[in-house]
This record gives sequence, structure tokens and C-alpha cells, in this order.
Amino acid sequence: MTEEVAPVKCVGPEYRAEDQKPTATVSTVVHFDNVTVLPQTPQLIALLSIIRNHSTARGDFVFYSNRIIRLLVEEGLNHLPTISHTVTTPVGRPYDGLSFQGKIAGVSIMRAGEAMEQGLRDCCRSVRIGKILIQRDEETAQPKLFYDKLPEDIADRWVLLLDPMLATGEFFSCQVSERWGGLLIRNIGGSAIMAVDVLKSRGVPEERILFLNVLASPEGIKNFAEKFPASRVVTAFVDEGLDEKNYIIPGLGDFGDRYYTR
Ligand code: PRP
Ligand code: URA
Repeated sequence: MTEEVAPVKCVGPEYRAEDQKPTATVSTVVHFDNVTVLPQTPQLIALLSIIRNHSTARGDFVFYSNRIIRLLVEEGLNHLPTISHTVTTPVGRPYDGLSFQGKIAGVSIMRAGEAMEQGLRDCCRSVRIGKILIQRDEETAQPKLFYDKLPEDIADRWVLLLDPMLATGEFFSCQVSERWGGLLIRNIGGSAIMAVDVLKSRGVPEERILFLNVLASPEGIKNFAEKFPASRVVTAFVDEGLDEKNYIIPGLGDFGDRYYTR
């Protein structure tokens, strides 16, 4: 387990003097070209403070998580291709703007990732949604693939992969292999890494996969960013590390439980 020292900074609009802004812990800085961390605005930090609080009731957890998810979706859409597009306004003047290009699909990692589907639907009407069921083993924290159902033409689409939590780094599975005459050690990765492997196996090019994530550990970000240099992660916050049970710290606990059942 590694732990970063997360920076404490004055948070507020740039035009305000530093001594006029309250301090808060902001995202750990990461240096990967393919990782975008949302701007650490007062709004985002206040929303995260609500969902991190252990005494926040489920209704508020859902409401405020959804607000963060909306911010992530809006930022994620900025990374899709656009082309120049001129329209004529009601007063007969041209406006040189942009239009989106290409088809998209959302793919949620069940169950927690499904919480992000509505935020995507709110921005992209009738968007196609695929599902991948990967669950972490509670004891070993290793991910297991149970099920996937993806749009038939997924290989032709940009994929917004949805999971609010990116926790673990690399995992290794050890098997005795007769073929290789010894112990076979395979890197199987965390849930998000496994999900990208599934997408790639269905023909989605790595560069068309955008992973939208609420909270990440530094090791999770590092492993994802290095394993898939052509993909992009958009996250709201990179936290300090993982505890001995591979929970993100300081974290927010089990997202799926807090959103759906607790
Ligand atoms: C959680 C979370 C991620 C995964 C992150 O899911 O939603 O999918 O753990 O951990 P990792 O990066 O170490 O793989 P979990 O398997 O607990 O299932 P849930 O969505 O049903 O809560
Ligand atoms: N999944 C969660 O929901 N929370 C964590 O901290 C790690 C994995």
C-alpha cells in the first residue's frame, strides 16, 4: 500500500485573494497525459465532502453523487471529436460553431457503475448502454467477470466506461501450468482494467475508450494510465491511497452499498 500526501490548498475563484479562501484537501497531482482531473472548484469539493461523510443519508448520497457524475459526463464529452459546423440563427446570421462527430455508447461496470447511467442519459438522449458485471472478491479484492452485454456495433462507437471507484493496482494470479512447465503468473488487473480488456476483445480501439470515474487511488490511476496509454480517464479526484482491505482512503466507503442499499 502506498500513501500520498494529498495537497491542502486554498479553494475558490482565482480573482479572490488567497487569504479570502478556505483551505481544503484537493486531488493528489498525477502526471499522466491521458488522465484529466476535474478542476478542484469549491462546488466539487463541497459535493465530495457530502458524499465522503459517513453520516450522509442514502438520499443525499444519491443526490450529490449524481451532481458529481453530471460534472464528469459534461467533461468527458469534451474529449469526443467535433467538427466545425455553421448554423443560421433566427435573425438570419451565421454562427460558426461545432458539432459532435461519431457514435457513442455508455458501458457501466455493474453494480456501482450503473449509478452513472442516468447522468449520461441526461446529456445524451437515447444513448445506447452496455453492461459488464465485474465484482471484486471481498476477501482478495481480485475482480471476476460474470457477464457482459454490449451493443452489437460497439466496435464502431466511442465508449464511455462508467465506474465511480478505481481502487486497486495490479493483481497477479498464480496457476500451475503443465504447458509452461511451472508456475504461470498472470497480471489480471483491477475491475476497470478487466473491463477495458473486454471492450478491446470486442474490437473497440483503446483510443476510443474514455473512463469516467468519481474517485481513484494513485495506484489505480497509474496502472490504468500506463496499461492503456491511448485511453483517457476523467476523474473527479485522486485520493491518498488504499487501506489493507484495498478500500480507497480517505475514500467514501463502498459506493455501491451507499448508493443502492445502505
Ligand atoms: C467496486 C467498484 C469498482 C471496484 C473498484 O465494485 O464499483 O467496480 O469495486 O475496485 P478495483 O479497482 O479494486 O477493482 P464491487 O466489486 O465492490 O461491486 P459493486 O459495484 O456491486 O459495489
Ligand atoms: N470499491 C468501493 O466501492 N470503494 C472502495 O473504496 C474501493 C472499491
